[in-house]
Amino acid sequence: MTHEFPLAGPGPAAGPARLRGPRDLLNRPLHDLRISVMDRCNFRCPYCMPKSEYHENYRFLRSDERLSFAEIVRLARQFVALGVVKLRLTGGEPLLRSNLAELVGDLTTLPGVRDLALTTNGVLLARHAEELAANGLRRVTVSLDSLDPDVFARMSGGLGSVESVLEGIEAARLAGLAPIKVNAVVQAGVNDHTVLPLIERFRGTGVIVRLIEYMDVGNRNAWDPRSVVTAQTLRDTIHARWPLSPVDQNYPGEVAARYRFDDGAGEVGFISSVSQPFCGSCSRARLSSNGTLYTCLFATDGLDLRAALRGGADDDALRQMIAERWRLRSDRYSEDRDALRKTAQRKVEMYHIGG
Ligand code: GTP
Ligand code: 5AD
Ligand code: SF4
Ligand code: SF4
Repeated sequence: MTHEFPLAGPGPAAGPARLRGPRDLLNRPLHDLRISVMDRCNFRCPYCMPKSEYHENYRFLRSDERLSFAEIVRLARQFVALGVVKLRLTGGEPLLRSNLAELVGDLTTLPGVRDLALTTNGVLLARHAEELAANGLRRVTVSLDSLDPDVFARMSGGLGSVESVLEGIEAARLAGLAPIKVNAVVQAGVNDHTVLPLIERFRGTGVIVRLIEYMDVGNRNAWDPRSVVTAQTLRDTIHARWPLSPVDQNYPGEVAARYRFDDGAGEVGFISSVSQPFCGSCSRARLSSNGTLYTCLFATDGLDLRAALRGGADDDALRQMIAERWRLRSDRYSEDRDALRKTAQRKVEMYHIGG
């Protein structure tokens, strides 16, 4: 099964024609752009935005510091001209950005985009699913770490509720935003005992659960390798209950390793960024809500595209800057984690680039 598709027909290309895309220093092409539209979030997951720091006086970006929709679309058009075929809207929580469906509608007009998805914590999804689908969003990925209300509350910082996320998922299903994926970050001793019920809840529903190894993203999550439950352990646990068989990738460089239930009840994915890193095929660029381009989830610096945009750079100049940055890219943090963790460099925070 594949869920890549043409969004825009051949038609007259609005904007720059497709160029031969840049390859980075490890010969990786640029295929994905993940666009964070909002640095705020309505959760306070301790591994991302701990309450102690992200309190009511924390200074998030002012709205004029965030890229406008017109700026996002203009940049996205340049990325698409350079070979990007897959767009994902992220946050913080992207549904906190007013009129997000308008941006979705604008992005669907970019020729060459084959996939347009949204990552959300799901709480506001019931309210927006229909409008997003009507404007051309194809699918959603909902973060849901546990169905146990106490564990959920611990992992969301006491905000939101399991029911509201499940309502969001149901609304997405009714709106046809498929395939729906549920992402769960697994932390040893926190939610690993709730993985089987999560899998059981979605078996046979068409929703694809993906279990993510807990990573040392950002600077605040006090990561410890002992808090990682490996994909192998998770796979063995699930396999013992519901036998699994591997399935081919949907596309080269797919982050999740896919498995199907042998009894036909659907599939499950494992994202093993710690135990089996996948930097070798990483084709993802990330644009933060203030217009900085990052070439790795663990980047320590980025390229300020907002300054270029607002300073009057034309499309050619923007494309050149992006391509040049990509050509100089050598990121492979997850493959070199042990050495890089020892450096004191500050990394970009997860809520700036949306995972
Ligand atoms: P599909 O398009 O549905 O295959 O999903 P995706 O590959 O875009 O994955 P998604 O955005 O759902 O990512 C799931 C999680 O995998 C993220 O929240 C991260 O935790 C992790 N992840 C995604 N991309 C990367 C990456 O480039 N590097 C690392 N280390 N982790 C990643
Ligand atoms: N490790 C793994 N995944 C993480 N996410 C946030 N922080 C981490 C981390 N430290 C996930 C969220 C969500 C996605 C955007 O990123 O749970 O599913
Ligand atoms: Fe919000 Fe996602 Fe960060 Fe949790 S992990 S605080 S839902 S951005
Ligand atoms: Fe890509 Fe960086 Fe993740 Fe490796 S660690 S897969 S280079 S984003």
